[in-house]
Amino acid sequence: MKKYSVTVTILCFVFLTSPSSGLTWQEQEHQHRHTGLEHYQEREKRYEDRWYWQMPQHVMDELGIEQGMKVADVGAGIGYFTLKLSKRVGETGKVYASDIDENALTYLDERRKATGLNNITIINGREDDPLIPKASVDLVLIVNTIQLVKEKTVFLVNIRHSLKENGKLVFIQWDAEKMDPEMPGWDSQDRALYTLHTMLKIIYGAGYEVLEIKDFLPMQLIYICQPSDISRTKN
Ligand SMILES: C[S@@+](CC[C@H](N)C(=O)[O-])C[C@H]1O[C@@H](n2cnc3c(N)ncnc32)[C@H](O)[C@@H]1O
Repeated sequence: MKKYSVTVTILCFVFLTSPSSGLTWQEQEHQHRHTGLEHYQEREKRYEDRWYWQMPQHVMDELGIEQGMKVADVGAGIGYFTLKLSKRVGETGKVYASDIDENALTYLDERRKATGLNNITIINGREDDPLIPKASVDLVLIVNTIQLVKEKTVFLVNIRHSLKENGKLVFIQWDAEKMDPEMPGWDSQDRALYTLHTMLKIIYGAGYEVLEIKDFLPMQLIYICQPSDISRTKN
């Protein structure tokens, strides 16, 4: 992981420091609700540089996202991945974008209309259930969100019902090992939220198993999971 440290420091400085807020980036994540249009515009602006550490096209290639697939972006926010997934799956595919932040979803809806993408369904989720229709999707994607969900097990069990047979649950999650403790905006007190150990506890605790962990992103790990028989995994 050390090989990334210089790159990560530079990338994170660019991404994580917000000129107007002075908040740690974790605080910025928690601050997302009850804020106005300006907040979302600022977030969209920050995302302009996100491609070089998020590598969305490469991520979608690695996840096998193709035309015609049905996918869900849970904790979609203003739709960084939603819009890219929508283009990738095309007219024969479908993207469900769920979040609990209605303002973010309204903003996403405007972006969707502006791009003319009509394969996106926006869902006002519940804290403990993103409300994706049953057995409807090949893949559920959760990016930088699970740490914010209070009832993680219930939430992930509810997601399980939305997966088709052989459907996958994918987390793209910050990884504490890749973060430099001196990095501006990184609050080391939250480190435990972003460890491999924490993620595995969340995943296996909710009745999933990890098929593969992809490690090519500079600040995050990608966990590809599928529902498991819990008793088989434990014994
Ligand atoms: C850091 S943002 C990430 C947004 C998006 N996934 C991305 O990568 O750009 C976290 C998102 O999770 C959402 N969120 C937090 N708790 C949630 C929950 N229980 N259910 C659904 N979304 C939730 C927030 O509203 C916010 O939009």
